[in-house]
Amino acid sequence: MITTTPFLVLLLVAWGAVAIPVDQSNTRAIAQQDLFNTTLFPTYYRFAAISYTKDAKLVTAWNCPLCKDPSVADTRNATFTPSRDDGKEQGYIAVSPSLKTIVFAVDGSNTVEEWLNNLKIWKRDLSVRGCASGIEVHVGFWDVWTQLRPTMEPVLVKYLKAFPDYSVSFIGHSLGGAVTLLAAVDFVNRGVVPASRSTLVSFGQPRVGNVEFAQCISKLGFKQVARVVNKSDIVIHLPPWFLDYRHHYHEYWINKAGVLITNCNDNPNGKEADNCARTQDTKLSIPDHKSYFGIKNP
Ligand SMILES: *[C@@H]1O[C@H](CO)[C@@H](O)[C@H](O)[C@H]1NC(C)=O
Ligand SMILES: *[C@@H]1O[C@H](CO)[C@@H](O)[C@H](O)[C@H]1NC(C)=O
Ligand SMILES: *[C@@H]1O[C@H](CO)[C@@H](O)[C@H](O)[C@H]1NC(C)=O
Repeated sequence: MITTTPFLVLLLVAWGAVAIPVDQSNTRAIAQQDLFNTTLFPTYYRFAAISYTKDAKLVTAWNCPLCKDPSVADTRNATFTPSRDDGKEQGYIAVSPSLKTIVFAVDGSNTVEEWLNNLKIWKRDLSVRGCASGIEVHVGFWDVWTQLRPTMEPVLVKYLKAFPDYSVSFIGHSLGGAVTLLAAVDFVNRGVVPASRSTLVSFGQPRVGNVEFAQCISKLGFKQVARVVNKSDIVIHLPPWFLDYRHHYHEYWINKAGVLITNCNDNPNGKEADNCARTQDTKLSIPDHKSYFGIKNP
């Protein structure tokens, strides 16, 4: 499988042999640790995995195999939201009474190997109210979001009104994590939903933008933010650090022993943790990307 990975990944592996510089400039004290109930990660992950369901009717009727798991079985009002152009990307919006949240989920790429080969690294400018200028995000991820937006936004707007005391959880695996992150920032920026009502949860999410973007995620004041990584998941190392991409705070890492590490030393200023997934720079794994909490994705 590794033979299909492109030059970018090879570069990345070479880079991994170099010590990770630690950026300690301008490090603010972290006011408070996110109060994330980490026992809910497998539940959130089921919502992410359900977005891969090919048969729209199974999502709409909440009748897919994973939908029946007791942790998500009370979900209702599921609306399937494929992209308008080619329908290649898809998402859904639903309501979870037990979590008192509106679930906003987008699927990842179906073939990780293919995606790694096609990964474009170019960035575009993004201006976000309340954040510093100079934000740049991945062009390809932004394009996927703009294809889904016409289908997803009206449904979200309707649900925000219908469930006024519910939060919104932006949930995705892989590319889906990147796209839901951009969706959340776009909605907050345009005043569709306040950040304080929004939670971000991703699994095996690639890097999405530059350090200004990572800082902006912390500055917007989301209700909760979690970026969950399984062991040596290859995708979280892409696009590579040395092309000026940075992960946002806050990482949760499942280590080699399968233990969830909750004190990764990343911070809201865009410093990536050097005691969590980055310790795996030279041991990248596709299987670790595809399997989270006992659920395998295509
Ligand atoms: C975290 O979630 C689990 C599962 O829903 C629940 O049993 C537990 O009480 C929650 N813990 C806190 C501190 O809210
Ligand atoms: C949610 O589903 C219920 C039926 O289960 C329906 O009565 C209600 O109108 C739906 N709400 C929205 C906003 O679609
Ligand atoms: C991490 O990935 C491996 C596959 O490489 C899988 O067996 C394991 O269950 C995953 N761990 C968790 C906690 O999801």
